[in-house]
Amino acid sequence: MPDSAGQDFRCTACGDLLEFFSPAWTSESPIFDPAALKSLWLGRRASREALDQSGVWRFRELLPHIPNLEEHVITLGEGNTPLYRLPRCGRAAGVENLLAKHQGMNPTASFKDTGMTFAASSAHQGGFSWVACASTGNTSASMAAYAARGNMRSLVLIPEGKIAWGKLSQSLDYGALTCQLRTDFDGCVRILNDLVRQKPVYLLNSVNPYRIEGQKTAAIELMEQLAWEPPDHIVVPGGNLGNSSAIGKALVEMLALKLISRLPKLSIIQAHGANPFFRSVREFGGKKLEPMTADTLASAIRIGNPASWKKALRVLRATGGEVEEVSEVEIAAAKAEIGADGIGCEPASAVTLAGLKKLRRSGFVKPGESVVLILTGHVLKDPDFTIKFHRGELFPATQVSANSVAGTSAAEKHDEAEAAQARNLQRAPLVLDANLGAVIAALDAAEK
Ligand code: F0G
Repeated sequence: MPDSAGQDFRCTACGDLLEFFSPAWTSESPIFDPAALKSLWLGRRASREALDQSGVWRFRELLPHIPNLEEHVITLGEGNTPLYRLPRCGRAAGVENLLAKHQGMNPTASFKDTGMTFAASSAHQGGFSWVACASTGNTSASMAAYAARGNMRSLVLIPEGKIAWGKLSQSLDYGALTCQLRTDFDGCVRILNDLVRQKPVYLLNSVNPYRIEGQKTAAIELMEQLAWEPPDHIVVPGGNLGNSSAIGKALVEMLALKLISRLPKLSIIQAHGANPFFRSVREFGGKKLEPMTADTLASAIRIGNPASWKKALRVLRATGGEVEEVSEVEIAAAKAEIGADGIGCEPASAVTLAGLKKLRRSGFVKPGESVVLILTGHVLKDPDFTIKFHRGELFPATQVSANSVAGTSAAEKHDEAEAAQARNLQRAPLVLDANLGAVIAALDAAEK
């Protein structure tokens, strides 16, 4: 076993995060025949091999090589997530052709599994017995599961009181050593970075470039589902900014390899209370990022110092995407709308629909353009949020303005309107006496 991991995955010269790069893919003489690759990947769908059945490993030609892969691979059959049409949300956003790629339909119910299968397999290949992460809840759930499957121990650092119960319960069930630290996510990251320099634990946060490589496959799979005809826009939530970086990297690589003929615009949406990247781009032209103390009910993206912001900036620029911020009320309303389409997601995923509405209003997205939202987590991850919303306890009427973007009166008015619309979607549970008449009366009242 390596005596010290000592890895923070940064360049010792410039301090930037490391990234895989395949010079051969950008050369004039192509090393892959795009049509042959597409049919190889499609053919694997009929295979009974575990590697072929995984929606990550099926695309292994576009992933870095792991020596003796068959001995080290840890897979739970991740990827292969559905692409849904969202008619009701499309109408609400003013976009005819709206789809959602639901990464919450992965084995541990978030997009993290696609990167985790790859990075956990590389930890196994490296001989590590301990893996570790700081997390707002989904990375830890995923890491704990993959570590358990690979007979590795896992150490989870999470902010005390700030993660959803669904996620905490997962990491306990999968047997992680779970430490709730009295700090926020950014504080957990600082401690973990110090820890990996002293102890032989392998860092599995998204600064680990293997995570990014695995997460690329969501975009590859999406293009395959669209018959390699890219949409006009892809919209993703932005927290630590690993996912947007991964999806953008995949798009750029697929263009270079002639798997697609043009780039969709990749837009990144943050919660107003956790918007350091939005501010970096809008206020500082991407020249610097000022860390902040983050606060949002979308706890998955409650991150004030995103590690991968430079990578995300590069893909934002390469694809011509936009960055937006949305209020707490907009997030809650969008989440209820996605639920009302019969799909559902966790709050952080709903920033995509909320952001799309803003991008439509600003004219960045046109009504006839096709849009894919990346939904990152399952609705059951954070039932507390959902129940409070439907009981009307999330934002007592007096609080709406306090949760508006920038607190301007226009933003407050807009949020009041969003809140009123969202109230139409509230379906609080009824507590009734156990008799037929009471149930019939409830049914009749709902008919009206
Ligand atoms: N959506 C969900 C459901 C998430 O859990 C996260 C991040 C994001 C979006 C943002 O993705 O960080 O790649 O920009 N969750 C991490 C975690 C930080 O620890 O689970 P990102």
